[in-house]
Amino acid sequence: MQINNQSLKVLIVDDSERDASQIINELEKNGYHPVYQRVDNSFTMKKAVREKQWAIVLCDYDMPEFNAFSAIAVLKEENIDIPVIILSETIGEDVAADCMRTGAKDFIMKNNFSRLCPAIARELKNEEIKRKQKQAESQREAVLEELHQIIIERNREETKFKQTIESLRKAIDASMQVVVSVVETREPFTQGHQLRATNLAYAIANDMGLDQVQKDGIRMAGAVYDIGKLSVPAEILSKSSKLTNIEISLIKEHSRSGYEMLKNVESSWPLAEIVYQHHERMNGSGYPRNLKGDEILMESRVLAVSDVVESMVSRRSYRPALDFDVALEEIEKNKGILYDSAVVNSCVKIFRDGMRM
Ligand SMILES: [Fe+2]
Repeated sequence: MQINNQSLKVLIVDDSERDASQIINELEKNGYHPVYQRVDNSFTMKKAVREKQWAIVLCDYDMPEFNAFSAIAVLKEENIDIPVIILSETIGEDVAADCMRTGAKDFIMKNNFSRLCPAIARELKNEEIKRKQKQAESQREAVLEELHQIIIERNREETKFKQTIESLRKAIDASMQVVVSVVETREPFTQGHQLRATNLAYAIANDMGLDQVQKDGIRMAGAVYDIGKLSVPAEILSKSSKLTNIEISLIKEHSRSGYEMLKNVESSWPLAEIVYQHHERMNGSGYPRNLKGDEILMESRVLAVSDVVESMVSRRSYRPALDFDVALEEIEKNKGILYDSAVVNSCVKIFRDGMRM
């Protein structure tokens, strides 16, 4: 005998109290502790299923006022999913098959009650599996929902982060512009030079396919690469006559002065070093350290070309603006000698494509 030793809420749909007692006896014999209610019509069955959660419905096939099909219909109407086992004195195979098609889980002859408890045990087990599947499904949905929320939150944070970066960038741009203005007020005829040279440098970097960090570095350094000119006397910067060797040396000091001013500034880019190198040339003929080729940062090589081109096509105190073709000829002539070849190629290309300062 199987010992279940478990409480079982069983709804018995049967017009016979005697048959219901037999069912209870059979359940108790098999170790169940049945908590049961007997109903025998649609009204009492509806009331019973609304008031209590039942583990199983044991339903007589035919009753004077009710039958198994009607009982299954009540459960469907009430949207309640409980396994139903049909019990009958006699039942034909066709009727049994109909019952199963309608939704019953099994049918048992009342003269063969030994099949009842194994059938109940099987249905309870199936219900337990269904319950666990539902639980797993709802846990899966909860995890998916949580993931969805995390993604939404992350996207929100990313948007906020981008907005913060953008406003910081604008603030930095504004500060840089102030620096540029201060530098440019000391050197007539150069208004807008750094901004135009920086725009050209950025366009070259873009054409060369440099990464975003390098391009941003060029943009930032572009605003301050001549900051060292603050340490050069204004009368030298604005002098329209020929400069003496000492004056030229003082002007050349601006790369180093700029480096000194920026070397302790915390930055995501090597700003101080880019500034330090912006007058170096590929063949080592530049200043202040005569760096060569790969010793020179790419950012500085780009700024070197854009600075030269922009200076040539702008009016200076000591000469008128030169033609674009003259400027391009100058950098092409010195491609790979003074200037990085790839930088020159990109610069020439974007001018040939129609860019103007
Ligand atoms: Fe410079």
